[in-house]
Amino acid sequence: MTENKTYIVRVPATTANIGSGFDTLGMSLGLYNVVQFVPVSGMSLIDTEIRAEGEGVGQIAAGLDNMIIKAMAETAEKAGRKISGGKMYLINRIPFARGLGSSSAATASGVFLANMLMGEPFKRKDILDITAEMEGHPDNAAPAILGGFCMALLKDGEVTAERIDIPSHWKAVVTIPDFELHTEKARAVLPKSYSRSDAVHNIGAVSFLMAAFMYQKPEYLKFGLDDVIHVPYRLGLIPGAVKVISNAEKAGAYGATISGSGPTIIAFSPKDKAEEVGKAMVRGFAEGNITSHYLILDFDQSGIMAV
Ligand code: HSE
Repeated sequence: MTENKTYIVRVPATTANIGSGFDTLGMSLGLYNVVQFVPVSGMSLIDTEIRAEGEGVGQIAAGLDNMIIKAMAETAEKAGRKISGGKMYLINRIPFARGLGSSSAATASGVFLANMLMGEPFKRKDILDITAEMEGHPDNAAPAILGGFCMALLKDGEVTAERIDIPSHWKAVVTIPDFELHTEKARAVLPKSYSRSDAVHNIGAVSFLMAAFMYQKPEYLKFGLDDVIHVPYRLGLIPGAVKVISNAEKAGAYGATISGSGPTIIAFSPKDKAEEVGKAMVRGFAEGNITSHYLILDFDQSGIMAV
């Protein structure tokens, strides 16, 4: 750790599940939070002064209630080290509780920052293991850290992950409604078990989802996004969502689904259709009396990084 040096970390938003890949698949999006940190010797980590701009400015917690600080503390503990507190400045572009990976971004940036402060005792794979363990599932953590389209399994505290590049001519149109939906609530509506026919359906869907990405065949996306494990149960928590998805497809998207656990809806679209797709999705939410806005995003291929 170097006194007075400013450490800067950039972390991407992520979209988890991608329809049929519940708790396993995720993608990294070109929308970033930035964490700046200047260590102050003698200051305790939990006394770190946090200032912020952008999303959720009034909701930034302090001390161990802050996910970045908590992740820093856990990472230092795993290394058997102590790190001091300091002055932290957050540039938040990822909205809270909207299905775009804000909690993974916070945890990953805390783990990554602590690792930098300690002289990098951990490799990227360790950073992923620590982040996924804190999150409880790896589908946002893997793309936040590795970038691209990721498949990830968490077993016995260790993540196995693989990433592939996302075709650069595909765009993500994320339409973000003006209400929050917390992951716990969106998980609480899911059944505890599923029928064999539902399991078989999703095995088929996820196979074609992988083919869509690996062979760059967007025409397979509509099969890959056709999930029966979580999407049908969550649509009722997102007024207008059915219309938003069908409007996106009618406007020329390859396919659309709930982003993560919602309430954002993500459409995959060719570049020349993206504006029309976004407008059609906002109209769909309006039919459910929900205001929303859309962003047309590139995919991030790099994951978290020091800048
Ligand atoms: N796979 C998770 C879910 C992502 O759908 O509940 C949200 O954190």
